[in-house]
Formats: sequence, C-alpha cells, structure tokens
Amino acid sequence: LARAYHEKVISHYESPRNVGSLPKNAPDVGTGLVGAPACGDVMKLQIRVNENGIISDVKFKTFGCGSAIASSSYMTERVKGLSLEEAGKIKNTEIAKELALPPVKLHCSMLAEDAIRSAIRDYQKKRGTLKNPKQSGYIDVSQSAATGETVATAHPGG
Ligand code: FES
Repeated sequence: LARAYHEKVISHYESPRNVGSLPKNAPDVGTGLVGAPACGDVMKLQIRVNENGIISDVKFKTFGCGSAIASSSYMTERVKGLSLEEAGKIKNTEIAKELALPPVKLHCSMLAEDAIRSAIRDYQKKRGTLKNPKQSGYIDVSQSAATGETVATAHPGG
C-alpha cells in the first residue's frame, strides 16, 4: 500500500513540519478545528498573524490518516509568510496534486483547506474583521469547555 503513496506524502507523514499548538486565547492567534464527516478525522491548525497581516507562525495537530497529516504539514509550510487573503485561497486540489494523493484521499486534503479557512475566520472573529461568517461549507469542531465533549457544527456552503 505504501508504494501507492508519493514520497512527499511519506516525508510529511514521517517528519511532519510544525506540529504543536499556539496559545488559543492569544489575540494574534487564529485556531481552526475541523472534522471530516467521511471518516471522523480531526485537524487543528493555528496561525499567528503579525502586525502587517502576515502569517508568521503556524502549528497543527491532526488526529487522522497519513494523508491528512501530510496535508496539514504541507499546509503549514505553504501558508507561512502569506497574507490571510493569499492563505485563504489555497485549494485542496493544489495539496492533492503536490502530494499526489489518490482520489479516495481527496477529502483528507479538503480537511487542510477547511482548517486554514477556519483558522483565518477565528482570527478575524477575534479582530472583529470577519465579513461573511457563513460563506463556505465546512464543519467546525469545538471542544465544550464545560463538558469536554466535542461538538461538530456544519456550515453548509452555497
Ligand atoms: Fe479521513 Fe484521511 S481518511 S482524513
């Protein structure tokens, strides 16, 4: 099975870049937490944004398959140094192509696209600059502080 995977996937899977967490409550940090309905895998991706609106740091934690881990690792390297607008335009198809993911693994790269958008939205929400809170289809997973329960909220896109 491993032979079906591109070496870039293996590389990102075996030595994922930027694994970890940023302080969720920091005013310059945006947190995206998303889940894939198809398999239940969950990805957390956090960005730190500097005073020029540039993503200066990125961290992720993915509870999911190798392709999801590779996709999030790739995404962290890809968005560092970008503006929020640039980062928000990255498509899962780019990741899938770059990592040569097979069709059954496309949703894994979708998770990375959803995660960066969710992180950007969270940051903008904190800053009060979120323009269109309901623009795209994704699922936010948030941890209920009170119960520790994981809550998934669907945001169907147009
Ligand atoms: Fe679901 Fe990869 S199998 S994220």
